[in-house]
Amino acid sequence: MMACVHRLNLDEFSRQRERHQHNAFGAPGQAISTENPFLNAEFVYDRSSPFFSMKSRLFSGVQPTGNLHIGNYLGALKNFVRLQSSYESIFCIVDLHAITIYQDPAQLSAKNREIAGLFLAAGIDPKLSSIIVQSQVAAHAELAWMLTCVTPIGWLYRMTQFKAKSEAIRENSDSQDSIGDGLLQYPVLMAADILLYQAKVVPVGDDQAQHLELTRDIAQRFNALYGDTFVMPETKLPSVGARIMGLDEPDKKMSKSASGAGHAVALLDEPAVIRKKLMRATTDSNPAVDFDTMGSGVANLLAIYQAFDECDDAAMRAKFSGMRYGDLKKTVAEKTIEHIEPFQARYREVMADPAYLDGILAEGAARVEPAARDTVRLVKERMGLYTEAR
Ligand code: TRP
Repeated sequence: MMACVHRLNLDEFSRQRERHQHNAFGAPGQAISTENPFLNAEFVYDRSSPFFSMKSRLFSGVQPTGNLHIGNYLGALKNFVRLQSSYESIFCIVDLHAITIYQDPAQLSAKNREIAGLFLAAGIDPKLSSIIVQSQVAAHAELAWMLTCVTPIGWLYRMTQFKAKSEAIRENSDSQDSIGDGLLQYPVLMAADILLYQAKVVPVGDDQAQHLELTRDIAQRFNALYGDTFVMPETKLPSVGARIMGLDEPDKKMSKSASGAGHAVALLDEPAVIRKKLMRATTDSNPAVDFDTMGSGVANLLAIYQAFDECDDAAMRAKFSGMRYGDLKKTVAEKTIEHIEPFQARYREVMADPAYLDGILAEGAARVEPAARDTVRLVKERMGLYTEAR
C-alpha cells in the first residue's frame, strides 16, 4: 500500500488533480463532489448515516514553521498517507499554534501553502482526507476559550514543552519574543483541535504524548463538570513511522527548528545539497558498516535508507555489511534523491496552481465545518452559553 503511493507517478497525479478540478466547489455546507458520497459534507458527518460508524476519526496537526524534512516525511507524512484510508482523517496546518512564537506574517502565510503543497505531494489524497488550515475554521479558537476555562493553570505550567520554550526565550536575551500567554495556552488549543472533531486517533510523535494526555484530562474534566460531551481520544499512539535522528547529532530526533546547516535534509533541498548534507553526516570511528558495533550515526543512515526502500532487515544486512562509510553515504544519498525528486516534481506542480490549492483547502474546511459546528453548539448548550432554540 505504501509502495503504491510512493510510485504514484506524475501522470497519474496530474489526472487525479484534473478530475478533482472538474468538481465545482459549492458554497460551504453544500455537497461538494458528485463523484464520491464521502465528499458530501452531510453524508460524512451525519451521525445517523451508516457511513459515520464505519470509520473512526483521525486528527493530526503540523505547524507551518521551519522546513519539513525527511524525518517529518518518514516519521509522520508517510504514516498519514498509510492511515488515511482506514480513518476519516483531518490533517490540519496549525497556524494558530505557530503564532504562539512571533512569526513573520509574509513567511507564515507562504508556509501555510507550502505545507498544504507538501501534504499533497506526499500523497495525502484530498478525496479521502480533509486538509485544512486551522485559522480557516473559527471553531478551533472558539472551543479553545471554553476549554481554557475548565483547565487548571497548574496543568499548563507542568507541560515540558512550555517549560523548554519559555526557558529558551528567557535565556536568549536579544530575542524579540516575550513569553506570550499563547505559549501557555498552546496545549489547550491542541485539545480543542482534537475534541472539536471528537477524534479518536491522534498520530503524533512521542514529544506530543504529554499534550495528548492533557487533552484527555481536559475532556474528562469537562465531561465531569457538564455531562458527557467529548469522545476520549486514544492514548495509544498509532504505530509511527521511522524515527530519524539529526545528521549532525544522531542522538537527537531530527528537528525542524535545529540551527545546524547539516542537521536535516529538507524535503525541498536540491539534490546537490542532499548529497552534501548526507556525505557530512556524523558516523563513528569504524571504517565500515558492522551491524553489531555501529554507532547511532550509522544506524540512522541505515534507517533512512530502509524507510525509503522498505526492504527488510535481512536485505539491509546483505547489502550494507562491510560497506565503507563513504559508499554508505553515497548509497543513502542516491536513495533519498530517488524518492525526493518525484516528490518535488509533484510539489512544484501543485504550487504552480494556487487556485487549485485554495480549492482543496476550501473544500477541506467546508467538509469539516458541520462537525465543528455540532460540537461547539453542544458545548454551548452544556455550559449554558447562548444558542438559538432548535
Ligand atoms: N503540537 C503539535 C506539534 O507541534 C501540532 C498539533 C497541533 C497537533 N494541534 C494538534 C497534533 C492536534 C495532533 C493533534 O507537533
